[in-house]
Amino acid sequence: MMNMKYTITTPLYYVNDKPHLGSSYTTIACDAIARFQRLKGNTVHFLTGVDEHGQKIERTAESKNLDPQIHCDEITEKYIYLWDKLNISYDRFIRTTSKDHTSLVHKFYAKVLKSDDIYIGRQSGWYCVGCEEYKDVDEKDKCPICSIHKKELEWRDEENLFFKLSKYQDQIEKLIQKDGFISPKSRKNEIINFVSKGLRDFSISRVNLKWGINVPGNKDHTFYVWFDALLGYISGSLISPNSPELTEESLINWPVNIHVIGKDILRFHAVYWPAMLISAGMKTPLSVFGHGFLTREGQKMGKSLGNVLNPIELLEYGGIDAMRWYLLRDIEFGEDGDFKMRRFVDIVNSDLCNTIGNLLNRTITMSKKWFNEKIPIDYTSLPESPLKVQSEIKINEYMESFKDSNFKNSANAIIDLANSANLFLNDREPWKLIKDISKNTIVANDIYSVLECCRIIGILLNPLVPDLSQRILNQLSINTSTISFDNSLNWGLLNPEISLQNPKPVMDKIEFNEDK
Ligand code: MSP
Repeated sequence: MMNMKYTITTPLYYVNDKPHLGSSYTTIACDAIARFQRLKGNTVHFLTGVDEHGQKIERTAESKNLDPQIHCDEITEKYIYLWDKLNISYDRFIRTTSKDHTSLVHKFYAKVLKSDDIYIGRQSGWYCVGCEEYKDVDEKDKCPICSIHKKELEWRDEENLFFKLSKYQDQIEKLIQKDGFISPKSRKNEIINFVSKGLRDFSISRVNLKWGINVPGNKDHTFYVWFDALLGYISGSLISPNSPELTEESLINWPVNIHVIGKDILRFHAVYWPAMLISAGMKTPLSVFGHGFLTREGQKMGKSLGNVLNPIELLEYGGIDAMRWYLLRDIEFGEDGDFKMRRFVDIVNSDLCNTIGNLLNRTITMSKKWFNEKIPIDYTSLPESPLKVQSEIKINEYMESFKDSNFKNSANAIIDLANSANLFLNDREPWKLIKDISKNTIVANDIYSVLECCRIIGILLNPLVPDLSQRILNQLSINTSTISFDNSLNWGLLNPEISLQNPKPVMDKIEFNEDK
């Protein structure tokens, strides 16, 4: 298979508060895609980071009586800590307060200026500091509220620098129509509708806001936080972060293959961002995926409701595999999803402990008890196993679903395969057959088939739950460093001569706790 370069990004998270389950969700999903692409043999550049400027951050720091940079450092540390706990395999973590980012923003701005896309104008309207965005509400409205943050909007009337978004109407229209540019399909229409109303120029600077990157040549202006933040995708892709040059050759891989974001910020990524890139003479991203929102027990998670789920607490309670598995396996990526503690416990116990964990455990136990160190099969002429056919079907389903970021169906394919292997064992009853010495070869072949399924399951689990995958493959004495989909998914690759490890449960059950 041809080795390709593949770049994936998470949103750059605002550091107004510590990471919550929503940000963990996006980042886990991106990690699964990055790991999947690596197993396909691609060279992946996985970029994440934080968005540190703007009024929202400035005000939060002020309310805590902290210097904004110190506040940013504190929160950023929490993101890095959590990504580490969640085994997020990012390649670059970008901070928008870093020096190389500032210098990149200036270079990019110079290109946009050169395209004659900037002018000075006046912007008035209702602004949401939480969204850092002017809202489409009637100017005459007395006291409008932000539908996302449920907070009063603020009236603004100031001189700003404007970017000529309207100039790119035709190009953006063509881009958003392209197959696969916006996913899931349901969100594509929403953007097409927005663009069809006619694009309006947007302001890219703020006056009276200190906490931002200065605009060269306009002393009282700092860059609008979104203009600054989107460029983080470029500064995070620089081959040499210390000497930012702005040509596509100076970037690790451009354009980006996929920006994964939440549905609330799709417009910025599918419309504003591509137009900025076209203006600077750069290639637009190949795709943007807008996922849904997580709620908790049916209610939107929010501090005022007191139902925010702290990812660190969830991790301590259920562990990393449980958390990753539940989010990827139970929630349809793209749709809104509800986190239910009871369901979290049930799904994890049923899928990972019972269906997969027990299968591996009981099969290794039988194998070691009856055959000791080796499985006595004729390696060169394995009889056709019904599990072989089943595994091929399920590997195919898994791959097809993963291509569309449909983690739920990929996870289902794994569980189907494990269920088939469990049924196979129950059907064949090797514990009875082994009593008859003449059936020894049959038992050996059956046990080998089930272990082979476990090996394939271990590999398929890797992008979703890498830690559990590693434990499964370790039990089968498999060296995981050389695994790839191309060289590891064929049937019959488990070496029957290699002794298996002593069986140990690969996943502990979670006890349901009403208070969680
Ligand atoms: N800083 C901007 C992004 C700039 S990207 C160049 C931002 N940050 S954010 O921290 O407010 O949001 C980051 C992401 O988290 C968004 O994609 C948003 O949709 C997502 N989520 C916020 N709350 C969420 C849930 N409750 N559930 C799922 N995702 C949610 O926007």
